[in-house]
Amino acid sequence: MITDKNLVAQAVEAQKRAYAPYSNYAVGAALLGKSGRVYTGCNVENASYSMTICAERTAVVKAVSEGEREFEAVAVVTDNGGTPCGACRQVLAEFGPEMRVLIATPQSLVQECTVADLLPGAFLPRDLP
Ligand code: THU
Repeated sequence: MITDKNLVAQAVEAQKRAYAPYSNYAVGAALLGKSGRVYTGCNVENASYSMTICAERTAVVKAVSEGEREFEAVAVVTDNGGTPCGACRQVLAEFGPEMRVLIATPQSLVQECTVADLLPGAFLPRDLP
């Protein structure tokens, strides 16, 4: 059983692995699958800046490529409690608007909400004919 505290702790560890030499803004994510498995991610920047991938999407891509598609929660850790970007909100919504989102710093939980709270009216798989 993974507690919220443990999920945030895993995101804190993932944040330490961020590769962010250009922005110096390190982000860590920990995504809890319905199987109970946790997939971590960090932002991975690139000298060709637009090739950067965010921590949240790293975690989602790791999980889905390992066969997990349903999620309970995601913890996102930054030094200032920043919230997931629009692209990450959309990618998280694909796999569950009701997923809980724990936004934290390494010191404390800043905000708890759902993906739907962060991206109301998301374009979802059900919107495709
Ligand atoms: N970043 C994330 O990893 N997740 C977000 O939701 C917001 C932004 C990263 C991308 C880039 O490496 C750095 O933060 C600054 O934008």
